[in-house]
Amino acid sequence: MGWVGFDAGSDTRWRWGMVARTPGMWSEIRTDRLLLRRPIDADAPFVLALHSDPQAIAHNPADALRDLADAHARLATWSRHWRQGLGYWIVEETALVRTIGVCGVKAVDLHGRPSWNLLYRFLPVAWGRGYASEAARACIQVAAQVDASRPVVARIRPSNSASSRVAKAVGLVRRPDLDLDGDDGPDEIWSTAPRTGTG
Ligand SMILES: CC(C)(COP(=O)(O)OP(=O)(O)OC[C@H]1O[C@@H](n2cnc3c(N)ncnc32)[C@H](O)[C@@H]1OP(=O)(O)O)[C@@H](O)C(=O)NCCC(=O)NCCS
Repeated sequence: MGWVGFDAGSDTRWRWGMVARTPGMWSEIRTDRLLLRRPIDADAPFVLALHSDPQAIAHNPADALRDLADAHARLATWSRHWRQGLGYWIVEETALVRTIGVCGVKAVDLHGRPSWNLLYRFLPVAWGRGYASEAARACIQVAAQVDASRPVVARIRPSNSASSRVAKAVGLVRRPDLDLDGDDGPDEIWSTAPRTGTG
């Protein structure tokens, strides 16, 4: 990824620092090959397709959606995440102008510590091209801009080697001391390296 941009439009006052203190400004991020944009209601059919794809939810069946009503409910949940600073973006492959996945961070407390929980999920047709890593790197950069005191963490099912490879590729390290149980069983925790003095 060469750079991260945002939808400042023609307003040159909006640079990194100002945006970081302005909720709701991260509605678009661009990377070399991807556009990450905040979800809208019209994304419900895509969100349903992604979360009803057997491969895309194989390791996290509790995340599965059954119908469009489910998808709208999920979008409403994601919208609430954004009220705490950041949330998930819909990911589009710029060259083909097609929607391929979801990636983002939401504010969570992990063992009492405020953290950013990183999620990435893509349609199988887009796997294996480095897209998840590219999107996740951008999300981690934005999370650091918004609140660098929160580590970025990923909860990964032990069998999900693709996900742990992405976590490793974007600089997260395994933290067995933080492991916990999730909706689908044990989750292994990966985290950005702790900052000196903050644990
Ligand atoms: C996990 C997922 C997002 C990876 O997407 P992707 O775009 O294929 O990932 P990338 O191309 O960026 O690959 C990153 C690394 O993972 C590796 N990888 C990708 N798919 C893999 C697989 N099925 N098995 C093992 N390694 C895999 C790549 O080789 C690469 O490794 P490297 O950095 O050593 O070269 C994708 O498989 C997915 O959407 N899975 C279903 C949803 C999911 O499980 N999300 C995670 C929830 S915790």
